[in-house]
Amino acid sequence: MTTTYDDKLVPLGIEGLDDILGGGVRRGSIILVAGSPGSGKTSFAARFIYEGLARGEPGIYLSFNEYREEFLENMSQLGLDFEAYEKQGKFMFLEALNINDEEAATATLESLLSTIDAIGAKRLAVDTITSILRVLGSDQRARELLHSLFIHHVKRREVTTVLTAELPVGSSRLGYGIEEFVVDGLIMLKTGFSGDKIIRTMEILKMRGHGATLARLTYAIVPGKVIAVRTPPKISNIPAPSEVLRFKLSVANMSYSVSLPRGSQILVSIHPALDPLTILLGLACNTEADPPVKVLYRSFSRSPDEVRWVLRRLGCSNPSVEVARISSVNPTIYSATKLAMHSIEEDLRVMPDVVVVDGIKQAFWLSGEMDVGIREHFNNIQHRRIHGITGVYVYSATLRELVNTYPLYDIYDAIFYIAPRRINDPLYIDIKTLKLRYSAPSRHVTLPVSSIIGALYSNDAAEG
Ligand SMILES: Nc1ncnc2c1ncn2[C@@H]1O[C@H](COP(=O)(O)OP(=O)(O)OP(=O)(O)O)[C@@H](O)[C@H]1O
Ligand SMILES: [Mg+2]
Repeated sequence: MTTTYDDKLVPLGIEGLDDILGGGVRRGSIILVAGSPGSGKTSFAARFIYEGLARGEPGIYLSFNEYREEFLENMSQLGLDFEAYEKQGKFMFLEALNINDEEAATATLESLLSTIDAIGAKRLAVDTITSILRVLGSDQRARELLHSLFIHHVKRREVTTVLTAELPVGSSRLGYGIEEFVVDGLIMLKTGFSGDKIIRTMEILKMRGHGATLARLTYAIVPGKVIAVRTPPKISNIPAPSEVLRFKLSVANMSYSVSLPRGSQILVSIHPALDPLTILLGLACNTEADPPVKVLYRSFSRSPDEVRWVLRRLGCSNPSVEVARISSVNPTIYSATKLAMHSIEEDLRVMPDVVVVDGIKQAFWLSGEMDVGIREHFNNIQHRRIHGITGVYVYSATLRELVNTYPLYDIYDAIFYIAPRRINDPLYIDIKTLKLRYSAPSRHVTLPVSSIIGALYSNDAAEG
């Protein structure tokens, strides 16, 4: 998916936010980013400058709080290598830590202006403006100087600017009379809690030339992207079904085939008496995929070592279904939104044909916010459809529980239900197709459990 942006718009480099803003902010505008301590003001401003550097626009970072070395070190941990651009003369870090009086403040601002001209800066970050306003106090003349610096010099040179400001904890007002300051955009970064989890929210309070409908966004600070804003996917970007994936399960002289378009989203509900991991891997071992598929297996309770151990015990060698990556995530560490962001980011990095998400019920419940979890699951489903990643979601429930309580029945392309059934002595499993879009309804099948996962329990099974 490529987006063409207006030339007059300057991308901030904040993923998600740029999309919401239709590409970025107007060239030459002044954006004030206000936030509580540790909310990500520095990260935001730095990511903005870095985006410019990557696009060949020289940039300046004027800091009142950090030493150059400190800044470079913190940023390199977030994946931003400013030093490379500094060596090329494209980036300047201006340290202004000892500004105690109006004279020093004025001198700093003047040297800022000459540096803008010297390197032909197109982007500027001032972190934080609170520091300089504190020094200037209530002196009207000094404030006018600051005002004229930005309006008459920085803006006129079409330098796009991000100013940061400290927001005292718990307060939603800036103080310092900064509201009168002529800024084109005002973004607030807030840190709150949902249960025991940090929730970061970004509020777009003002943005000239934009009618952003989504004004309160959840974001995370992550190395690489630095600031990642969670945005709902555009349903209109979902492509029509094209390539079909064929799966043929052959067990004990029986076979069961199902064809689904790439990017289908499949719910597999498994009776709580069965272990989803072993049943699924057992079925995958005996299923031929055409074309062959690369699988990402994400579990909310099992470790990669355990999954690999089960695969080995099953004696599984299936060239058409390759478990390329196993990822284990403890859903209690993240808020539901961060869990969803983490998951889809990994999917897009690995780009598997199929992602198996083992334990969506755990993910919904243990992240602590059921309704948010369900909403984010819906969004990830649509993200995967857009990117052609087939999703298999494992939900542990009885059929009755599934039908009566599961809230998202209608968004899946296929729903299967797997339950145990005892016929005389041996245990069998029933696979019921509850729903199948774009395909002839498959029949129900009953398979002996021993033929699927028997090897797991056999003492002769090869130990790896
Ligand atoms: N490498 C990292 N990986 C993940 N998160 C990080 C990383 N580095 C910093 N963070 C997060 O970013 C937050 C600090 O971000 P940043 O310094 O941009 O905030 P700030 O608003 O400028 O803070 P301050 O008020 O101290 O100036 C930390 O609280 C931490 O949670
Ligand atoms: Mg900071």
